Amino acid sequence: MTGPFTPGSGSMISPTLEDVLARARHVAVLTGAGVSAESGVPTFRSAGGLWEKYDPQQLATYEAFSQDPDLVWSWYSWRRETIRGVEPNPGHYALAEAASLFERFSLITQNVDNLHRRAGNPEVHELHGNIERLRCIDCGTFFHGDEAPPSKQAQRCKCGGLIRPDVVWFGEMLPANELQFAQQAAANCDLFLSVGTAAMVYPAAMLPLTARQHGAYVVEINPEPSALAHEMDECIAGASGAVLPVLIDTARRHRSMT
Ligand code: OAD
Ligand code: ZN
Repeated sequence: MTGPFTPGSGSMISPTLEDVLARARHVAVLTGAGVSAESGVPTFRSAGGLWEKYDPQQLATYEAFSQDPDLVWSWYSWRRETIRGVEPNPGHYALAEAASLFERFSLITQNVDNLHRRAGNPEVHELHGNIERLRCIDCGTFFHGDEAPPSKQAQRCKCGGLIRPDVVWFGEMLPANELQFAQQAAANCDLFLSVGTAAMVYPAAMLPLTARQHGAYVVEINPEPSALAHEMDECIAGASGAVLPVLIDTARRHRSMT
């Protein structure tokens, strides 16, 4: 592992990464809560993160929802309102630009917050669902977040079934098609960026390892080392909103030269 390259101490893009950015045909990116931190969306595990204040077992499991649907409903309503009140940050916009820079660009996220889409990314692969989508636990009808009043009481479908957020809770399977896409992208890319994730939740945390096993150059962007920092080719110690625009700018300069 080389680095870490600290922003402010000269160039944060190493010569090796610059070379990879110039040549890469397929770039895959995995994002986590950290990419939205600069927009004002709380992360889960950083200092002051959601899992410091709240118990995931009481809020983000199917058992929790069946025992106290109103509590889980109101927590997700609060998060949905928070997310609606923020804007994408320069990290999201840099990734939206990256989509058109490389021959192939695969954006995979663990976030449910829609900020990649709102920043203009045409294709986002959501491993943990989307907070603006809800579904009936009985008949499977989907609803949009706009149809869900920010109430403290869990809402019911016409069929009488409870409506849940269409996100992946602990102990649940990830959407099979999105996971398969992500695994294939990790196995086929030339450059893999792991951005703003603590890399502690599987199977998402497998993706950088898969990429490395298949020969991609794997780079972490995070102000703190993640649980998998030692498995990376390179770690850039910085906030995604500061690092990603520089990285994409470097790629753009090389691409316009060729
Ligand atoms: P975490 O909250 O676990 O980790 C956020 C990471 O972002 C940490 O490693 C921070 O150091 C880093 N970070 C903080 N600010 C940053 C910034 N400005 N730029 C870049 N990085 C920054 O979030 P995830 O790894 O995404 O799942 O968590 C994965 C899953 O665990 C979530 O999808 C959620 C959670 O429980 C479910 O709810 C099922
Ligand atoms: Zn129903």
